[in-house]
Amino acid sequence: MDNRRNSLVIGKVLLEFERLDSTNRYAWDMISDGKSIEGTVVSAGFQTAGKGQVGNTWISDAGSNLLLSFILHPKFMLPKHQFDLNRVTSLAIRDCLQVLGIDNTSIKWPNDVLVGGKKIAGILIRNLISHNRIQASVVGIGFNINQQFEDGEIKATSLHAILGSHQKTEEVRDILFSCLDKRYLQLKQGHNSKLHADYLKFLFRYETLSNYRLPDGKEFLGTIKGLDEYGRLIVEHEGIATVYSIKEIAFI
Ligand code: BTN
Repeated sequence: MDNRRNSLVIGKVLLEFERLDSTNRYAWDMISDGKSIEGTVVSAGFQTAGKGQVGNTWISDAGSNLLLSFILHPKFMLPKHQFDLNRVTSLAIRDCLQVLGIDNTSIKWPNDVLVGGKKIAGILIRNLISHNRIQASVVGIGFNINQQFEDGEIKATSLHAILGSHQKTEEVRDILFSCLDKRYLQLKQGHNSKLHADYLKFLFRYETLSNYRLPDGKEFLGTIKGLDEYGRLIVEHEGIATVYSIKEIAFI
């Protein structure tokens, strides 16, 4: 265990593993055991069962990328505002990319960070809720740092692919921790309007007419108008605004 003085909260305690099944699973077990300290980060060089959104697996080459989960105890948060944790995390990843000199970043609702329209990072959050409060959260981040892609890859990217050289994962990780600290502090201090405004500023396809698909296969042209108070996506189609939860709409 590494006790790090530079971090405010995130990464103050850092548990590093060469190999784990899943950092989210490990961090969740720490919460369940009632032993977790807020800001504890569990990181791994390789995951044998990395979890992705909607039951997908998260694939990452050994030792190439950031695979980490951090633990929060956001007891000030109502469960209905849990999307604020996605907001904080995606904005922090965007901030980190900006510190690294990368500007063409966007946040794809609900959990992806894109550079030039290609995914560079994904987020997976699990909350422990009781007494109408979020007692604890595990926020998992998979961030492509040195992942190699085949020529012509159109969906995913990495820092290496963008910057054209090998990047030190520890340096990116420490920048990310300080960006997470700042955004989490904004949330704690109640600067929600700043977080909401920044989120919309970087939201992929915000106010842009684009194609979407519904679970029944129907496709339509719509325009993202923002998020409701639960973090659901508001899409306007032929003058009518509809609210969608995750899994209820796909970007095409
Ligand atoms: C997504 O599908 O986009 C979310 C991916 C989240 C992957 C990260 S890697 C570190 C942490 N541990 C896991 O098992 N998953 C998350």
